[in-house]
Amino acid sequence: MALLLGIETSCDETAAAVVEDGRIVRSSIISTQIEIHRRFGGVVPELASRNHILDVVPVVQEALLAAGIGAHELDAVAVTSGPGLVGALLVGVQFAKALAYGHDKPLLPVHHLAGHLHAVFLHRPDERPSAAPEFPHLALCVSGGHSAVYRVDRPGGGTGRVALLAQTRDDAAGEAFDKVARMLGLGYPGGPIVERLAVGGDPKAHRFTQPRFKDDSPLDFSFSGLKTAVLAIIQRSAALPEGQALADLLASFQAAAVEQLVDRTRSAARAAGVTHVQVAGGVACNTALRERLRQVLADEGLTLFVAAPRDCTDNAAMIAGAAFADLPSERPLRSRPSDRLLEVRPSWPL
Ligand code: KG4
Ligand code: ZN
Repeated sequence: MALLLGIETSCDETAAAVVEDGRIVRSSIISTQIEIHRRFGGVVPELASRNHILDVVPVVQEALLAAGIGAHELDAVAVTSGPGLVGALLVGVQFAKALAYGHDKPLLPVHHLAGHLHAVFLHRPDERPSAAPEFPHLALCVSGGHSAVYRVDRPGGGTGRVALLAQTRDDAAGEAFDKVARMLGLGYPGGPIVERLAVGGDPKAHRFTQPRFKDDSPLDFSFSGLKTAVLAIIQRSAALPEGQALADLLASFQAAAVEQLVDRTRSAARAAGVTHVQVAGGVACNTALRERLRQVLADEGLTLFVAAPRDCTDNAAMIAGAAFADLPSERPLRSRPSDRLLEVRPSWPL
């Protein structure tokens, strides 16, 4: 049995988790800074770093305590080393380095998106493991910072294990939800607020055209045109929409965003010849997306897998899990002098 501590500080969540053998979540603690960034309508990098510094020690202590182990019982420390906000990443990486060095444990760098791709394999000790996608499978990865479709060939999701099939040319899907909420003065983060206020709205009230690319990456996403179209509707009306008008606008926006994601994913799955598909990242919490994707893929004979919502948004269990899945089976875990040289990679293609 291997127990890994995961640490995640790439954006506005300070998280730590203990995961057994890459899949069993013994603890997962998340301290969110949403309240701190809310009044600015988005994440303020400098505030994020400062709050990670305040939170990282108690969050790690709580994760160890909840798992009922001491740091000396860990087999390794895994940490998100990129991509993300440089100052925020530095807090997690420096703390992980010190902890690993102090307890003579190996330090394992993890790509944040490899973490998101692993969330679907996690379960709690008291749960039966739910069905998980087989390899190779297709992954729609949609968060506040990324929107991409990958063919995932092997566990771990790291370099050489995935092929990028499509990506956004401008805004990420979550970013589009956040920006639309911000334009309407609805608060941050926008995704859950938009989803809630769209209930009861008519998704056909406004027609938005879908972006089409005729070059050699026709499956790429684009959300900035949709965002601008929503802005144009807001600017044409005398006051910010409220009530039914607001619900109609948000339902129409959400339906257009979901349609684009679903349409591209279906085409990519067809082209890749896979039968299993997963959706990962914070936007995977969106019920409209999950339901539409499940239905459209089922019509094609494809099966959709989604992590529990608590594991879709940023957390450290996915980081510890991805680190374990990425380990070569033939080499035992051993700390190396190079662990002390680990650096952050704010931009890091998967
Ligand atoms: O994966 P995540 O926690 O952080 C990043 O790595 O970016 O994703 C956060 C993003 C935010 O943009 C948030 O608005 C979006 O996920 N999100 C949602 C929903 N819940 C979170 N978007 C649409 N519908 C939701 N229910
Ligand atoms: Zn994320």
